[in-house]
Amino acid sequence: TGHVVLDPAFVNTASTSSSICFIDGEQGILRYRGIPIEQLGEKSTFVEVAYLLIYGHLPSRTELARFSTLLTRHSLIHEDMKHFYEGYPSTAHPMAILSSMVCSLSSFYPEAMDADNREMVDITIARLLSKVRTIAAFSYKKSIGQPFVYPQNSLSYCANFLNMMFSVPAEPYEIDEDIVKVLNLLLILHADHEQNCSTSTVRLVGSAKANLFASIAAGICALWGPLHGGANQEVVEMLDEIRKDGGDVSKFVKLAKDKSSGFKLMGFGHRVYKNYDPRAKLIKVAADKVLSKLGIKDPLLDIARKLEEAALSDPYFVERRLYPNVDFYSGIIYRALGFPTNMFTVMFALGRLPGWIAHWKEQNENASTKIGRPRQIYTGATETNYISLEERS
Ligand code: CMC
Repeated sequence: TGHVVLDPAFVNTASTSSSICFIDGEQGILRYRGIPIEQLGEKSTFVEVAYLLIYGHLPSRTELARFSTLLTRHSLIHEDMKHFYEGYPSTAHPMAILSSMVCSLSSFYPEAMDADNREMVDITIARLLSKVRTIAAFSYKKSIGQPFVYPQNSLSYCANFLNMMFSVPAEPYEIDEDIVKVLNLLLILHADHEQNCSTSTVRLVGSAKANLFASIAAGICALWGPLHGGANQEVVEMLDEIRKDGGDVSKFVKLAKDKSSGFKLMGFGHRVYKNYDPRAKLIKVAADKVLSKLGIKDPLLDIARKLEEAALSDPYFVERRLYPNVDFYSGIIYRALGFPTNMFTVMFALGRLPGWIAHWKEQNENASTKIGRPRQIYTGATETNYISLEERS
């Protein structure tokens, strides 16, 4: 109330206080609950990081065991949900399937509607973390016409996902611990990023006391946009376009500088980072490692490196402090692991889930939370009389 201030795109407005995630965009620092992502990426697992973000501290042995058991126990989706897949065209984008399936979970678990029942919220959290993984893998299987592969209790979170994605009845997927490790790293690096577009969406929807499934489904829709999580798919498509065009990166750098072209370098720039995105740094190193371990020579990695070099030595990018962001190199790893391009943003969603949940929970547990409701500066007509249809020119 009182004086309304205009701040389009919330460039200078904090919508909340929060103790989950710290970013220093000038220095390129990212910490979850105070712990630098470099340490988490090297030493932790995605499940442990999910616990850290959601519950505020690293789990003890007992807490981790209990949490993992909960995730294992809730990995199946209701058999009736499998029929939903039959309704989609085989060309359906998996993000469209994911958002609607996640919202549909509220119809199978109506008890999630009670956002203030803490015990129930814990179960809902476990259901989400576990089932989104199953839903994502099933949507891939549907798109390529293969039978669904059910989750297996003996496998770790990431191994289980890889198995559901790539196992076929004729041949079980061989779990490679190095690949499991890199998948853990990627998911950890995507796990939270304070008040980005999708997380702010989850918080805004959640502020109306919408249930957790519905709030997360809204976040998934926001993430799909090409300026947000959808950028990882766009990056690989752009790199491939450069390759097909003959590989001249300077031509594309020039195009990106020309505002009238409508072309931007995908995977470059960030609202908060005015320095190298710390996630991109780690992902770049991991991309090198994974490709050499798998013996893959991907021409797109060379193009990406050249493009980065060309952009970072161009005054346009230097002056505007535009650096590669998290989406720039991640797609190259996903490609090497066998993920099709349209699954990249789904992978981002899987990684960002704990962050969305943590923010929803933090907000929901704060008794002083009010419904989110921005104001506006009205620029329309002053009072104007209705003109009947006959009298309108
Ligand atoms: N290529 C060319 N020019 C760019 C780019 C780019 N990728 N990004 C920003 N600029 C220019 C922009 O035109 C503007 O120039 P000027 O000052 O002359 O008007 C200046 O740099 C500042 O950019 P902005 O658009 O005001 O910055 P923003 O904070 O509103 O947008 C962004 C941030 C990430 C949406 C934008 O940099 C962008 O569109 N990048 C490409 C898409 C992308 O990679 N998105 C992923 C973001 S990271 C992970 C995630 O959130 O999913």
